[in-house]
Amino acid sequence: MPVLIKAPVLLNEQVGPGIFLMKVHAPAVTAECKPGQFVHVRTTSERDPLLRRPFSIYRKEKDAGNLQLLYEIRGKGTSLMAGIRAGENLDLMGPLGRGWNLDRKPGTVIVIGGGMGTASLLALVEEFCSRKGFKIRAFLGFREKKLVIGAEIFARAGAEVTIATDDGSCGYRGPITDLLPRSVRGTGPFYIYACGPQAMLRRVAEFCELEGIVGEVSLDHRMACGTGACLGCSCRVKKKDSWTYSRTCVEGPVFTTSEVLWDG
Ligand SMILES: Cc1cc2nc3c(=O)[nH]c(=O)nc-3n(C[C@H](O)[C@H](O)[C@H](O)COP(=O)(O)OP(=O)(O)OC[C@H]3O[C@@H](n4cnc5c(N)ncnc54)[C@H](O)[C@@H]3O)c2cc1C
Ligand code: FES
Repeated sequence: MPVLIKAPVLLNEQVGPGIFLMKVHAPAVTAECKPGQFVHVRTTSERDPLLRRPFSIYRKEKDAGNLQLLYEIRGKGTSLMAGIRAGENLDLMGPLGRGWNLDRKPGTVIVIGGGMGTASLLALVEEFCSRKGFKIRAFLGFREKKLVIGAEIFARAGAEVTIATDDGSCGYRGPITDLLPRSVRGTGPFYIYACGPQAMLRRVAEFCELEGIVGEVSLDHRMACGTGACLGCSCRVKKKDSWTYSRTCVEGPVFTTSEVLWDG
């Protein structure tokens, strides 16, 4: 059950260019949340912006009841959020949405993250690394070297990490999805989870279709209510021979690669 709380902020520090890590004490959320779910945050007690902003649950420290969010300054809401100090409260609602499918037999877990999309994948990696019989590979793509965030945390959790940057300043030069075919073939049963820009997710979905497997993608849609009431976050999904709208905040943000209809 989602809760609406004022969570004490324990830490809110810059970890990269315009990128912040916030830690809040929210035991009621950490007790319930699953990898891939999100929290909906009021970034200010003033009127503007009025709407909450969604952030993936980056990491949970279940025993301590703490929750970590990794976020990038994009506009007014996230700028205000970056100004919140330790000791203040964060008004948040969560956990919300449908997270990643964790019901898997031992095999290879492949996570593909683009930019801040990686924030949705660390908790998933930590979950599978804590289980027996799973090999975890993380393919993380960024625009440039200075924006590479969290790679060592994924590695410390137990994932084999491969990096790509658009300009080649770190790791492979080009889209991280270029590396999928040669990395995946011949490794036996595998599961694909991806979060990042739409173009990347679309390529992941095409790859899954080619390989005859069903992967999972987390969609980054703008949200308003976050609870299924306003329909503002609707995306198109396949339904039998036709299609229908689905609410990213309730039926998602995680969808299977076979159900999403990619626009354009
Ligand atoms: C389920 C979910 C989980 C998310 N998790 C994270 C996370 O862990 N870390 C993180 O940094 N961000 C995450 N985001 C994106 C984050 O919610 C937005 O960056 C934030 O709402 C921007 O608020 P703002 O007021 O700063 O910017 P605004 O002033 O609202 O917008 C600034 C610019 O960013 C664009 N923008 C805003 N929201 C989105 C969006 N959702 N998708 C694409 N473009 C957008 C706007 O069109 C505009 O150009 C997530 C989004 C969703 C839907
Ligand atoms: S944001 Fe309102 S229905 Fe999803």
